[in-house]
Amino acid sequence: MSNNPPKMTASHVDVSYGTNHAIRDVSIDVYREDVTAFIGPSGCGKSTFLRSLNRMNDTIPTARVSGDIRLDGEDIYAREMDVVQLRARVGMVFQKPNPFPKSIYENVAYGPKIHGLAQSKGELDRIVERSLTRAGLWNEVKDRLSDPGTALSGGQQQRLCIARAIAVDPEVILMDEPCSALDPVATARIEELIHDLRGRYAIVIVTHNMQQAARVSQRTAFFHLGQLIEYGDTSDIFTNPRQERTKDYITGRYG
Ligand SMILES: Nc1ncnc2c1ncn2[C@@H]1O[C@H](COP(=O)(O)OP(=O)(O)O)[C@@H](O)[C@H]1O
Ligand SMILES: [Mg+2]
Repeated sequence: MSNNPPKMTASHVDVSYGTNHAIRDVSIDVYREDVTAFIGPSGCGKSTFLRSLNRMNDTIPTARVSGDIRLDGEDIYAREMDVVQLRARVGMVFQKPNPFPKSIYENVAYGPKIHGLAQSKGELDRIVERSLTRAGLWNEVKDRLSDPGTALSGGQQQRLCIARAIAVDPEVILMDEPCSALDPVATARIEELIHDLRGRYAIVIVTHNMQQAARVSQRTAFFHLGQLIEYGDTSDIFTNPRQERTKDYITGRYG
């Protein structure tokens, strides 16, 4: 595990939806050099907490977030924070691949265009190629860039969504159960991709698959009923958990 300063720090975060208190007093640091996995039973607040890291909860009218969340020391809930910019810096990949109803090229080019990252068509082409290459998809799509993104297989669509996140040069990528709609072969490709991207971006992955957490992450956070029960080195969490509730979960006693 890295000893460098964290990319993001969350301190004493609470999230409620109306009267439903979904996250209670959660503090976690995430690091660029490490993949962080969030595990825990369904409904324990993993997605809710993940969405607080790029202010996606802002889009849910009943959601209230309190606490302190920083990106490179900068308070992401500060009044002067540009949320559109923030969501480019802290990108997100969802459970179900959700390409825009546009071409493969446009899916990747859209973000760089609206953020003004390319000064010319040639530059935009290079960003698209680089992003698709990093997402492990270039060779499969380079001859059909004008096909609709939705014409790709599920696993390819998910890699397209990862390319779309990468295209705006993010610092953090949040993935919420990115493989839950994919078959084992497509899942393995995403896991390989996470390995390849590690170190370039701070990656946080929510997964209900403990084997996946063990395979892809260096740090694991176990959530239960809205609380962070234990956070540490992935191998410690899986082989030597300190908390009884973590042990019960990883040994399959509930969840
Ligand atoms: N958009 C929402 N509106 C209201 N309540 C929500 C919303 N999303 C999640 N919740 C509630 O917050 C709690 C945590 O849910 P969630 O973060 O989705 O858990 P997980 O991702 O671990 O399955 C649950 O009680 C769930 O019903
Ligand atoms: Mg979830």
